[in-house]
Amino acid sequence: MRKPLIAGNWKMNKTNTETEEFLNELLEMDLDSEVEALICPPTIDLYLTRSILKDSSIKLGAQNMHNENQGAFTGETSPIMLTNLGVDYVILGHSERRSLFGETDDFIATKLASAYSNDLLPILCVGESLEEREAGSFQAVVKSQVSKGINGIDKEGLENLVIAYEPVWAIGTGRTASIEDASNMAKYIRKLIHEMYGEISEKVRILYGGSVKPENIKEFMAEEDIDGALVGGASLDAKSFASLVNYRR
Ligand code: PGA
Repeated sequence: MRKPLIAGNWKMNKTNTETEEFLNELLEMDLDSEVEALICPPTIDLYLTRSILKDSSIKLGAQNMHNENQGAFTGETSPIMLTNLGVDYVILGHSERRSLFGETDDFIATKLASAYSNDLLPILCVGESLEEREAGSFQAVVKSQVSKGINGIDKEGLENLVIAYEPVWAIGTGRTASIEDASNMAKYIRKLIHEMYGEISEKVRILYGGSVKPENIKEFMAEEDIDGALVGGASLDAKSFASLVNYRR
């Protein structure tokens, strides 16, 4: 059984003060313990978030990291810094990192390997652009992102792998993929991993992301191969995030 994961990706939103307000409000709420709740605040809010969540089961994630453990990489954050802070997860290869900051599949693959060697759980983001969807090449695009991204990781590592399928045209646009398209892609990704690594593909959690909100989450979560959601906009409000986590109620 794969435990559902609801991950809030705050992107570049919330100051320290706003983070504190959000977390204190969230801690007052009753969250479904059968669902894993994860908050990914901006890097500068990680320390504060860790200290406020120290006695809670809510997990902590970073939105990005460098692949090297230390060195002359001005402005970057290293995996060992995240591990030392008690960070559990790290989002890698988000489409905004790919399109705005030029991250390639090969660079993302080195980060994935580095996350594993530093005991961080990677969330590998994949997804096609609108042009690729319309041109019908969406499966080929996602296949290449998945296979390059996980290339070289040990089979055992897959047990802790999370893949987030986020069609670029559905991110922050209010336009979601149809349940059927999201479900078909999740199935396709699992099949790909099965072809590469066998039965362990059943352990990989696959999330859908792109304009998920409390009003539509149930439908996505009802699909067999969708194990959770990566949520941007609707994770910024504590009540909204709590109702996403409590989608089964
Ligand atoms: P959104 O973002 O929920 O605001 O569409 C999702 C994401 O980019 O992870």
